[in-house]
Amino acid sequence: MTSHATLIIGANSEIAKAIAAQVINNDTAQLIVISRDCSFYQQDKFADAQLITLENYQEQTISQAVETLKANMPIVITQVFICHGILHNERCQPEKRLEDFSADMFIETLTANTVTPMLWLKHLTPLLATKHECKVVIFSARVGSISDNKLGGWYSYRASKAAMNMLITSAAVELARRAKNMKLISFHPGTTDSPLSKPFQKNVPKGKLFNSEFVASRLLTIVASATIDGQASYLDWQGKEIPW
Ligand SMILES: NC(=O)c1ccc[n+]([C@@H]2O[C@H](COP(=O)([O-])OP(=O)(O)OC[C@H]3O[C@@H](n4cnc5c(N)ncnc54)[C@H](OP(=O)(O)O)[C@@H]3O)[C@@H](O)[C@H]2O)c1
Repeated sequence: MTSHATLIIGANSEIAKAIAAQVINNDTAQLIVISRDCSFYQQDKFADAQLITLENYQEQTISQAVETLKANMPIVITQVFICHGILHNERCQPEKRLEDFSADMFIETLTANTVTPMLWLKHLTPLLATKHECKVVIFSARVGSISDNKLGGWYSYRASKAAMNMLITSAAVELARRAKNMKLISFHPGTTDSPLSKPFQKNVPKGKLFNSEFVASRLLTIVASATIDGQASYLDWQGKEIPW
C-alpha cells in the first residue's frame, strides 16, 4: 500500500518548523524533513518523521538526498515546501543604495534563494511526476514582484526572489506538459517573526508581524484548496494573487 507524505526542505526555517508541527498534529500522512540542522526535530512528537540532515546544498548533496527519498518508495509525496531564504548574514546586509551592491553578496543570495530551490525542483520532479496530485510551494516574497516594486533597495534579495518567480513560471509551462499532476506555488508569507526578519521588525505596523504558526496554518489551508491547473500561482498569506 502506498502512503502519502509531506516533504519540508530547509526545515530549520522558523516557518518550516511551524508547518511541520501542524502537519504532524493534523495529518495521518508521513512527514519528511530535510535540513542542515534537524536538531529541532529530535522531539517525541516527531518520532515518526524521517529526518535527512545535509552538510550543504550543493547539487551533488541534493541529488544524493533525493536518492535517499527514492529508496523509501512507494511513498507518494503530495506536498512539498521549499523554505530556503537569506536576507542577511555575517557577510551580507540588504542594500539600501546602489553603492552597497556587491558581487559576492549578490551571488551568495542568489545561490541560497534561487539556485538551491531550483536544484531541488530539478531533482525532485522525476519523483513527484506521478498520477497523484502534488503541490510544491517555493517560498518567495512580495518584494520579488517586479510590477509591485515601489520602494526599491534590497537589490540582491529582490532580484533573487524575482528570478525564482521567473524560474517557477517557466517550470510550470514545462510541467503542464510532462507532469500534469504538479502545481507550483510561489508563496509570500507576510512579515513573519523569524531570524530572517529579526533586524527589520521595528518598522512593521502593529498587527502586521505574524507568528510562524499563523502563517503555517494559512499556507496549509491555501495548499489544500489549490487546484492543479497547469499554472504557477504567486500567492500571499491571504491566498490573494500577487502580480508577477
Ligand atoms: N520571515 C519573513 O518575514 C519573510 C517574509 C517574506 C518571505 N520570507 C521567505 O520565507 C522563507 C522562510 O523564511 P524564514 O523567515 O522561516 O527564515 P529563517 O527562519 O531565517 O530560515 C532560513 C532558511 O534558509 C535556509 N538557508 C539559510 N542559509 C542558507 C544557505 N546558505 N543556502 C541555502 N539555504 C539556506 C535555511 O535552511 P536550513 O534548514 O538548512 O538551515 C532555512 O530554510 C524564505 O524563503 C524567506 O525569504 C520570509
